[in-house]
Amino acid sequence: MASRFDFFTSTISLLIILGSDAFTTSTSSTKVEETLQFTYSGAMGPDKWASLNPNFSLCATGKLQSPINIVSARAVGNKKSKPLIRNYRAVNVSLVDNKYTVAIEYPDDTGDITLDEKQYRLRQMHWHSPSEHRINGNRFAAELHMVHVSDDGKVLVVGTLFQLGRPDPVLQTIDKKLYELGSSSSVPPCTEHLIYLIIAKPRSISKQQVAALKAPLDIRCKNNARPCQPLNARHVQLYQD
Ligand SMILES: *[C@@H]1O[C@H](CO)[C@@H](O)[C@H](O)[C@H]1NC(C)=O
Ligand SMILES: *[C@@H]1O[C@H](CO)[C@@H](O)[C@H](O)[C@H]1NC(C)=O
Repeated sequence: MASRFDFFTSTISLLIILGSDAFTTSTSSTKVEETLQFTYSGAMGPDKWASLNPNFSLCATGKLQSPINIVSARAVGNKKSKPLIRNYRAVNVSLVDNKYTVAIEYPDDTGDITLDEKQYRLRQMHWHSPSEHRINGNRFAAELHMVHVSDDGKVLVVGTLFQLGRPDPVLQTIDKKLYELGSSSSVPPCTEHLIYLIIAKPRSISKQQVAALKAPLDIRCKNNARPCQPLNARHVQLYQD
């Protein structure tokens, strides 16, 4: 039996077509253990992150930290930008329980998103519950981060907020897998200059799905949302998709 202080990674091969509910599963799991380097409550919680590792110093000193409260009246619409072009294909992926979040990891050739003529490849997506970003002070039930990386290492995160309601069809296909995982850069090192695009229109998620997302997480990470950080000098993009 793993102690709850262990870092546990299970991988499950899935065939995924994004934006549809066509997940099919195949093959089994491997396990990797490591120690959690931070948590969302207690002695290793968000207000202590910078002191846990010299590499996490930006968590305290950074001026461009996420998440933030988005004031919609002051958010910069991206009307002048070209539309987001998504170009994803069906691939086999890994479902990973990092203990501080549940993630899906993608292979190199999954596809990309083009923003302002720059291409970013989809590498990973993970969920937070409740949401990390707020809109006009309001927190949502969950938030999905799709992490894309360009060839020169720039990161573009596309965030989708979820309010309680009907089940999310994408999550519906992995709910059971989440429970099977077993119970036991809004995260350190708090890297800056990521582009966050928060999709303005929330999707819906059921209470049961929020519970499924929390089930495999470390007890100290069940609410894996970092508190909002100061806006300082920057603009926020609320993407009207
Ligand atoms: C800090 O990050 C570097 C580069 O990723 C790594 O080699 C080093 O082990 C890290 N230090 C600690 C204390 O984790
Ligand atoms: C996913 O993996 C299965 C089993 O290994 C394989 O048959 C299938 O062709 C793979 N699908 C893709 C899109 O790579």
